[in-house]
Amino acid sequence: MIFILTGAGLSAESGLGTFRDTGGIWSKYDLTEVATPEGYARNPARVHEFYNVRRRNAAAATPNPAHYALANLEKRGVARLITQNVDSLLEAAGASSVLHMHGQLDRVKCANCDVRWDAPLETSADDACPTCGALAVRPDVVWFGEIPYGLDQIETWLATASLFVAIGTSGTVYPAAGYVDMARTLGIPTLEINLEPSGGAFDDGVYGPASETVPNWVETLGTSPLR
Ligand code: APR
Repeated sequence: MIFILTGAGLSAESGLGTFRDTGGIWSKYDLTEVATPEGYARNPARVHEFYNVRRRNAAAATPNPAHYALANLEKRGVARLITQNVDSLLEAAGASSVLHMHGQLDRVKCANCDVRWDAPLETSADDACPTCGALAVRPDVVWFGEIPYGLDQIETWLATASLFVAIGTSGTVYPAAGYVDMARTLGIPTLEINLEPSGGAFDDGVYGPASETVPNWVETLGTSPLR
């Protein structure tokens, strides 16, 4: 199975911003205020406003050819899709079992009792948890300092992968940034598909906009089921 890790660059051409490129999200917002538990505790309204904007943008976005190409690989049973992205464009393109290690914009959870449910388009600090009643609704997104979802499953899949591919990620945030090194240690070939080299230690790289490079790469895999 091919292990495919994706980042914000996969959805850039669908109009969703990346984080660290010029003009990226972290150049417009202070991540300590909107993407940490401490920032949420200090000012939950500011966090809700940040994620309402991102949820609206994500709801209006459409998958690009890269999302469809990856969803096709998953449907053919030749790849597992692990994403750092919180949009659901891979699902919109037909993928059915994406592992969102940083959570999802279209889910919310209660910071008091941890119950999770589908997010409305807009949330506010005045929303009450439907289970415990606490005014503690927050995005079901993994913030800095929190433990990403699915780490055991990810490492199990990585250990048996035939190829590790990172698409549209700067490789700056761990543990995702460490998977290429883990793959190399395991003797698994590694490929980066990105707008430009991220500096990660990959065996091979394909560079250019994902909406072109990803479908072209998938084409090279042919239609025969891969080992
Ligand atoms: N096609 C392919 N790659 C692209 C494109 C594109 N059209 N546009 C940008 N990129 C690449 C950039 O070159 C960069 O390497 O996508 C990468 C985006 O990097 P980041 O903005 O750092 O996003 P990402 O790697 O996903 O960030 C990881 O950081 O802030 C946290 O939780 C957040 O999941 C996010 C994590």
